[in-house]
Amino acid sequence: MKEKNGLFITFEGGEGSGKSLQTRKLYRRLQKLSLPVILIHEPGSTALGEKLSRLLKWGHSNEISPLAELLLFNAARAQLVQQVINPALSAGKIVICDRFADSTLAYQGCGRGLDMAAIKNANATATGGLQPEMTFLLDIPVKEGLARKSTRETNRFEKEEVAFHERVRQGYLQIAASEPRRFTVIDARLDKKRIAGIIWQRVSSILE
Ligand SMILES: Nc1ncnc2c1ncn2[C@@H]1O[C@H](COP(=O)(O)OP(=O)(O)OP(=O)(O)O)[C@@H](O)[C@H]1O
Ligand SMILES: [Mg+2]
Repeated sequence: MKEKNGLFITFEGGEGSGKSLQTRKLYRRLQKLSLPVILIHEPGSTALGEKLSRLLKWGHSNEISPLAELLLFNAARAQLVQQVINPALSAGKIVICDRFADSTLAYQGCGRGLDMAAIKNANATATGGLQPEMTFLLDIPVKEGLARKSTRETNRFEKEEVAFHERVRQGYLQIAASEPRRFTVIDARLDKKRIAGIIWQRVSSILE
């Protein structure tokens, strides 16, 4: 396998927890320092991934089985890892990814109830074993997260019942607790700037 010199950072968390906002802030901060950095999101950031994203988010709920959902997310992920992430890391870039494999453990595992071992296998196949060096979990009470986004049309996941999102939230917290060195759990109700500060502290310490 080729040497990977870059830094792989992922953001996780439930609906409306502020992932997209914080990934953008971190991306801009690194860009200002003239560091080589790319910002991508899952599912998407490739032509195939964007097509699958439309299906996964806006398709009819009962047309996609939980197992098909697992494999579609991982199809998008396999393409993203091979086409974008691995080349960027090999070129020494910082890769910021808005959601990654932990989302599948939380949503398809804890949310949908698929077997965790099967998900880990599927994830490992799609990623070729690639793991983020650092993951930020933005944790927010389910209703507060959903309320932040209530102004526009709701996608397949946002339409799920509160109990589904509650399982996702608890799942994320368990995953984070099982890998404390990789994860930083942040209270997503804090002020945006405060959250950005906590993230920056961690990222800048590893860049030194
Ligand atoms: N710390 C915060 N305090 C208050 N509002 C916030 C905070 N962070 C983000 N928001 C707002 O909450 C909304 C959702 O944020 P954002 O889109 O970044 O979340 P997300 O986790 O990416 O959501 P999604 O699950 O839809 O991808 C936005 O309107 C954003 O401005
Ligand atoms: Mg987002």
